[in-house]
Amino acid sequence: PAPLKVAILGCGVVGTQVARRLTEHADELASRVGTPLELVGIAVRDVAQPREGVTGTPLADLLTQDAESLVAGADVVVELMGGIEPARSLILRAIEGGASVVTANKALLAQDGPTLYAAADAAGVDLYFEAAVAGAIPIVRPVRESLAGDQVQRVLGIVNGTTNYVLDRMATDGLELEQAVKEAQTLGYAEADPTADVEGHDAAAKAAILASLAFHTRVALDDVACEGISAVTADDVAWAQRTGHTIKLLAIAERNAHDGVTGIQVRVHPALVPSDHPLAGVRGAFNAVFVEAEAAGELMFYGRGAGGAPTSSAVLGDLVSVARHRVLGGRGPVESSYAALPVLPALAA
Ligand code: NDP
Ligand code: HSE
Repeated sequence: PAPLKVAILGCGVVGTQVARRLTEHADELASRVGTPLELVGIAVRDVAQPREGVTGTPLADLLTQDAESLVAGADVVVELMGGIEPARSLILRAIEGGASVVTANKALLAQDGPTLYAAADAAGVDLYFEAAVAGAIPIVRPVRESLAGDQVQRVLGIVNGTTNYVLDRMATDGLELEQAVKEAQTLGYAEADPTADVEGHDAAAKAAILASLAFHTRVALDDVACEGISAVTADDVAWAQRTGHTIKLLAIAERNAHDGVTGIQVRVHPALVPSDHPLAGVRGAFNAVFVEAEAAGELMFYGRGAGGAPTSSAVLGDLVSVARHRVLGGRGPVESSYAALPVLPALAA
């Protein structure tokens, strides 16, 4: 088969790692897919900006500020620019043009996922987003596919690496929150605006995505009761430690009964976790997610939840999957139809 043209939108923390690994491992990836993956361009805002790992390498020649033209000529579009616009319009344009799409954009999926899913379904193309939840951890695909025959009861865990890193640094080194957030930014864990991490919005977006998949219903961002860690002080963290606890920002989605109606409730908030609980041992920017399902029982997923290289693993895994579908035929799941399970009023955090 002819090589597949791959366009990457964004050359930041994640995009740089994806572009680098895509070119360094080109031969291996070609053998896994059945045809070469040809990187045809990388869209950025400013081509002149110096970029570590890109400037002075052949990747620099692929940079462009013309994302629209790049999307128009691609077989697969990998969206790693973040934010709502122009990411949303570019993804829709790619889908309508018949391209498969891979994205790590949880903010967009939580806000307008159903529009994107419906567009992908109508066009008969793949829309994959493993990297949108919990970085390197395979959690989207297990929930979306492996558990599709089971009845999930609860999804609970740590899904934001930045806040986990920050709480960890406050607990182990007595750092103030602002100082620890700056470190998380330097390490490439934080969102472009770290308020999304600190105020719990990033975790809420991930919780909405996971809950939608796990319970086969539409959970919007507004359905998630959300409290972040901005009010957590170094004194709170120290007090928790003295009483045998660790403060963790948890995301919880569960089947519940409310006023006689069974439905889904989703929330994100800081919680006191007993120090001997497995979640208390999740350090740095690691994430951990427990899934409880009727037949499977309890499952635990653990690994690096943020950072360029770990996230690139999930992105490239998706890229191989959607590329294989283009070579061999067939496609992955599309979330355009849902059961009528209601989303209940969010519990106060
Ligand atoms: P960065 O801010 O590091 O990179 C964003 C890139 O997108 C930059 O290269 C930027 O260009 C480009 N970009 C932004 N807006 C535009 C635009 N309008 N037109 C063209 N290019 C644009 O983000 P990350 O790499 O950290 O994150 C990318 C995505 O991955 C986000 O959706 C994020 O939520 C998600 N994600 C991030 C993880 C992480 O650990 N960092 C983990 C999991 C998911 P320029 O460089 O010229 O400014
Ligand atoms: N800012 C996010 C986090 C990146 O810290 O978890 C990974 O989604």
